[in-house]
Amino acid sequence: MCRRRRTRDAALTSEQTVLTIILIRVYTMPMIICVCKAVSDRRIRAAVKEGASSMRDLTRQLGLGTCCGKCLPDAKLVLHGCLRARDESAASVVDFPAAGSELLA
Ligand code: FES
Repeated sequence: MCRRRRTRDAALTSEQTVLTIILIRVYTMPMIICVCKAVSDRRIRAAVKEGASSMRDLTRQLGLGTCCGKCLPDAKLVLHGCLRARDESAASVVDFPAAGSELLA
């Protein structure tokens, strides 16, 4: 491999590394959904994990949407994404019979 190509490949690699770092930071930063009440997507996800399953639940628990209401469409998207992910992960769990249940039948 010639020296010039090695240098170009090294530059590409460092550019890819920088892009990867930027993407990781963007995707791991909390996104504010409700500006009025300072509610982030992480707080919505946590509320869904704790049992919230509707916009009413989120409004009661987090107060989002109670001021200007402009956050409601985005909050709905986050909520539905969380619920879909929760349902898919629940469906992927294989339901094994309890140990010894065949003896009871
Ligand atoms: S942005 Fe959520 S109530 Fe105003």
